[in-house]
Amino acid sequence: MTKIMAHRGASGLYPENTILAFEKAAEMGADAIETDVHLSKDGKLVICHDESVLRTTGFDGLVCEMTYSELSKLDAGFLKGHPGQRLPLLEDLLRIAAENDMGVNIELKNNVFAYAGMEEKVIAALYDYGLEKRCILSSFNHRSMHRAKEIDPKIPVGLLYSCDLYEAQQYAKSCGADALHPQYGSVNAGMVQRAQEAGVAVNVWTVNTCKVIDDMLFAGVDNIITNYPDLVRERMR
Ligand code: G3P
Ligand code: CA
Repeated sequence: MTKIMAHRGASGLYPENTILAFEKAAEMGADAIETDVHLSKDGKLVICHDESVLRTTGFDGLVCEMTYSELSKLDAGFLKGHPGQRLPLLEDLLRIAAENDMGVNIELKNNVFAYAGMEEKVIAALYDYGLEKRCILSSFNHRSMHRAKEIDPKIPVGLLYSCDLYEAQQYAKSCGADALHPQYGSVNAGMVQRAQEAGVAVNVWTVNTCKVIDDMLFAGVDNIITNYPDLVRERMR
């Protein structure tokens, strides 16, 4: 049975990666929430998609060059007309997920800046909120996912990619990964079957239209990562 991961929360209708978007995703019946984390100058796990806060807050600065005290004064509701949203910490999302019995897909945005020690911090936070069995870490930095497995083999990890990877399931196995996180263009029923037979899950992004939702449901993917969790729920009926 395919599950629904709300991409940056219910980001189709609410400002991405905010507490509001996470709470709305819970209301819409998403099974899990996908989010993006960086490390602030003072080592806090801060939720934001880009390295810079410019696009989502209007302030020209990098997460890694600002303290959380400085970041918390910005308004992350800039994009979709819901002002008054603070840039969340990872712990804000983990609290919401734990309270709503939801899972989390935490994308470590460590493919531009290395963020030393990030894997340890994220894994420790998952245990703090009792989410270690309802989570997956993901990253475009596959070395980081390998490192996460070395730190704690019980925490599932997924490999993000946007190309058509040859024998993707074999590559996932060679990295010690539990899941492939492909862009939907490279996903079909055969690819999903080969992965699942090898014990590798397929979690596909970012699926926002009825046609692609239907195609991914037909292909039998494990998780659909979407900006519109309510639309995916509707297509599953
Ligand atoms: O998890 C899938 C997706 O979030 C990866 O791309 O750029 O939206 O973080 P991006
Ligand atoms: Ca992401």
